[in-house]
Amino acid sequence: MPLERIDKLLTGAGLCSRRDAVRGVKAGWVTLDGEICRDAAKKVDPQTCRLTWKGEPVQTGRVYLMLNKPAGVLSARQDAEQKTVLDLLPKRFLDMGLFPVGRLDKDTVGLLLLTTDGVFAHGLTSPRRHVDKVYRAEAEGVLDERDIQAFAEGLTLRDGTKCRPAKLEILSAEAGKTTVLVTVQEGKYHQVRRMLASRGAPVVTLERLSVGAVTLDPKLERGQWRELTAQEIAALSG
Ligand code: URA
Repeated sequence: MPLERIDKLLTGAGLCSRRDAVRGVKAGWVTLDGEICRDAAKKVDPQTCRLTWKGEPVQTGRVYLMLNKPAGVLSARQDAEQKTVLDLLPKRFLDMGLFPVGRLDKDTVGLLLLTTDGVFAHGLTSPRRHVDKVYRAEAEGVLDERDIQAFAEGLTLRDGTKCRPAKLEILSAEAGKTTVLVTVQEGKYHQVRRMLASRGAPVVTLERLSVGAVTLDPKLERGQWRELTAQEIAALSG
């Protein structure tokens, strides 16, 4: 990774303006690898350096998070009227350029990845990569073997859109409602909702459980987030 100036890293982490960074460094508010550093122009490796600002660690490298997205929140960075997933996170992440990897509908809940790394995001959302995404859906209506077969063959949606083969698993059926797992490798607009609707089973609730090898952390309540582990980042970067 290219070396970066300390004042640029402090600004990029959303902690202060460039001018305040230079002043703060001069005032002794910054440590680099455990020692006070008074040179704001010093260049360091953002992935390996340990920088603190007023005693708090500074996030200098690229950022990778998982969020348990609640319903009613847009998968966007900012919106003039509605709450977005970035509104659920500390403001510094917005300043660092964090963005959601792909989208979940406003009312879909569950695993949403966010990053500052455009290459990582592109690798996961590119239609060429065929990354599995697993959803649990509760749908109205009854689904059976014929629906499983139709998903496996590749559905044609009501508007004529063709889908790649997908996996439908029926978990339970009760009182005219069916709970299913759907695994898709695409990210078309409202894809899972439209796939199930095309089989006469409109979605009532939809939750994303996993993306590739990474599963939603069961310890995260809706609205909570954590950083991805190095293993998770490696598994998704594949
Ligand atoms: N499919 C949908 O219909 N909605 C989502 O949010 C994700 C996949």
